[in-house]
Amino acid sequence: MDNRPIGVFDSGLGGLTAVSEIMKILPDEEIVYFGDTARVPYGTRGTDTIMRYVREDIDFLKSFDIKAVVMACGTASSVSLPFIQDEYDIPIIGVVRPAVEAAIRATNNEKIGIIGTSATIKSRSYEREILKKLPGSEIQTAACPLFVPLVENGRTDPDDIVLYTMVEEYLTPIKKSGVDTLIMGCTHYPIIERAIAKFMGDEVALINPGREAAKFLKESENTEKRVGKGKYSFFVSDDREGFIANASKFLGGRLSGEVSLAPMER
Ligand code: DGL
Repeated sequence: MDNRPIGVFDSGLGGLTAVSEIMKILPDEEIVYFGDTARVPYGTRGTDTIMRYVREDIDFLKSFDIKAVVMACGTASSVSLPFIQDEYDIPIIGVVRPAVEAAIRATNNEKIGIIGTSATIKSRSYEREILKKLPGSEIQTAACPLFVPLVENGRTDPDDIVLYTMVEEYLTPIKKSGVDTLIMGCTHYPIIERAIAKFMGDEVALINPGREAAKFLKESENTEKRVGKGKYSFFVSDDREGFIANASKFLGGRLSGEVSLAPMER
């Protein structure tokens, strides 16, 4: 038994899609969440900047004596995880490997689509991981840089004309390629899953990276579990009110726990 909390972070609200899954399947765990709302989005930034942000985010979470970190951000997991895992003495779980393993289980025709931020798609992280495990597969990718700002601005209704136009534009080549599985490679995207599903059709399996990372955490032998009642605290680097107003949509339920401004030197 290890009663220390689990640290979870994202550039903003998206990582809460992972938190909601951890709350469901590991209800005893204490979670400390950090959303770097002062610096969202990460996905349009360069590698050095993302690496610096990620190290600062983990260092902040480590001040809570956490037992593991969930990088609930496709961009951070893609760009930094392979390089920084060895810098820390606790397990760091990203979303790429869990999402890829789920996609490989889901596909029948070995045609897999990947969508993500520009930095994620440029890193080819998901693609490389798929090809390691399923070398003959066909992969179609698309960067969707406008999805995060749309989600952060509450444009999530599948009938929202602006959102649906962007879904059509970004996903048309992927749909045409005949994929039967699509990795929503950014933790913000499950919030627009209904719009994506409406366009892609029921026959395409959609992989939610936060959900898969939560399952991975549950199965991880490196992380001893906590016994007790779940406890949650949330920190943001800016706009506490905006986070509180939007969090329940990402959590799929009421926000329970204090939201504080992170006392970080910026
Ligand atoms: N949720 C982050 C991700 O999974 C959002 C990216 C961003 O900040 O651009 O990639």
